Amino acid sequence: MSKNIQRYTVTAALPYANGPVHIGHLAGVYVPADIFVRYLRRKGKDVIFICGSDEHGVPITIRAQKEGISPQEAVDKYHFMIKEHFEKFGISFDNYSRTSAKIHHKTATDFFKRLNDQVMFIEETSEQYYDEHAQQFLADRYILGHCPHCENDNAYGDQCEKCGSSLSTEELIHPRSALSGQTPILKKTKHWYLPLDRYQNFLKKWILEEHKDDWKTNVYGQVKSWLDEGLKPRAVTRDLNWGIPVPLEGAEGKVLYVWFDAPIGYISSTIEWATHQGKDWQPYWKDRNTALIHFIGKDNIVFHCIIFPAMLKAHGGYILPENVPANEFLNLENEKISTSRNWAVWLHEFLEDFPEHQDALRYILTVNMPETKDNNFSWKDFQTRLNSELVAILGNFIYRGLILTKKYHQYRVPEPGALSKKDQKILSQIKGYPAHISRLIENYHFRDGLTVFMNLARLGNKYLTDETPWKIYTNHPKRVESILYVSLQIAGMLCQLAEPFLPDTAQKLFEMLHLPPYPWDKLQELEILSPGHILGQPILLFKKIEDPEIQKQFKKLEASKKNNPPTHKDKHVVNPNAGFDDFSKIELRSNTTS
Ligand code: 2FM
Ligand code: ZN
Repeated sequence: MSKNIQRYTVTAALPYANGPVHIGHLAGVYVPADIFVRYLRRKGKDVIFICGSDEHGVPITIRAQKEGISPQEAVDKYHFMIKEHFEKFGISFDNYSRTSAKIHHKTATDFFKRLNDQVMFIEETSEQYYDEHAQQFLADRYILGHCPHCENDNAYGDQCEKCGSSLSTEELIHPRSALSGQTPILKKTKHWYLPLDRYQNFLKKWILEEHKDDWKTNVYGQVKSWLDEGLKPRAVTRDLNWGIPVPLEGAEGKVLYVWFDAPIGYISSTIEWATHQGKDWQPYWKDRNTALIHFIGKDNIVFHCIIFPAMLKAHGGYILPENVPANEFLNLENEKISTSRNWAVWLHEFLEDFPEHQDALRYILTVNMPETKDNNFSWKDFQTRLNSELVAILGNFIYRGLILTKKYHQYRVPEPGALSKKDQKILSQIKGYPAHISRLIENYHFRDGLTVFMNLARLGNKYLTDETPWKIYTNHPKRVESILYVSLQIAGMLCQLAEPFLPDTAQKLFEMLHLPPYPWDKLQELEILSPGHILGQPILLFKKIEDPEIQKQFKKLEASKKNNPPTHKDKHVVNPNAGFDDFSKIELRSNTTS
């Protein structure tokens, strides 16, 4: 980053309030965003972490229909559920709002009006698909068809989830209604379009030239292919009865397109936060020295890198994102996560089944984070990594270091005696860890950051095993003091660096070592645990998970398979006479953010 950053506005994709959160959402968006924000806070930066529920659009109305409830009831149910689960899991938003909030309706309405007043829209009447049977225009996910870019026969009217292309309904080949399964007719209707083509050059210069080197290749590549293809005007209104009414005369019965209002939700959530805090929200969105960073899944790239920036530019006065570190998708046991087939690990079920293993989940999701390509979660891998890495390396090292200090030195950090070459080397190596982890986190390499952190624990664990203080104590008590001193410096550094990756564990470490968090940038200069410092009671940081608990999870997944075999019909094809139950077979949600 070239500019002089004074504050950070970090956003995480607003999840649709149409279902609970699963591990795909967490690994794709919320865990990386939370690591980043916790790190910035540890660095003492001015940072806000903004999110909320996305409560409009077809994903909501479809879910409500499926459950036989109103859209309002659906969003109320899922908004509070999602909010609670995030909180329990320790995703540390500064504000979690919702797009049904008054402030959001006002912010989005004002934004649309301003663009309209500045003549930033094209108004156009055109023929759109209409389901005569359901008496409804078919926007976005209400229409399915063959993708023009790949072989997917079940692309949505706004997006193909298979190849990631963003679509408009008229591009679909052999369109059919998701409501009735029938072939729709064409009917005239008026809409407001954002002429993206007018922003083509500006976007090209801003992203393809200015961010060539600092945006992730998956993000840059997607944006480039959009721009190479040439941008077209895009409708920002819809014929739907759920959403924010278009605030213009002659637009009765029309609402803002959900992808027009949702990203404005980041701004409204910031305003809500600022109001509660008695602060000014504007610097977080308007000051050139603010870094705006959007954490999203790959299916949201076009909206955050092209459409929202074009909206911000058209409005004027807003900053543009400094980076959009989008992740790819996480699979479960090598199969695509699917809400409709219940092929998912739901956060709330995990928290119920493994109440003491939140950090273990964060750990495995970070280790397998789909940073550059799709990645996989498997229960076996979860068990192995928990038992052989968190328990056997990190937990074991800390426990041994503290137990030995308790036993041989009454909880007191010893004064080191003579230091061996190896001791000196380790003490100097430790100092390099904060800057190394900083570099990785600042460049969105969270997996590598965690690996480096664990390497420090590995170093400590091996050191203790090699030096065998328990064997030599009787004959060389002085040497043991040096060994303990060196080990405790490693433990102290682990305690100081853990929070972004393992916040619960960090808390336990601070308590166990009787330490406060020290400024991250000072860590390399400090003697973290000075001789004479009294340590607390050693506890085991992690607990092993045994086979029967993992078997239970496999059984759950087997049951999902039995009840929802992955047939062709299962994936998006709707029986023309479908009732609400059949409707549940439609793939309603995408992997990472919906
Ligand atoms: O894909 C999704 O789940 C959307 N609800 C993400 C919205 S992000 C933002 F723009 F609000
Ligand atoms: Zn496709």
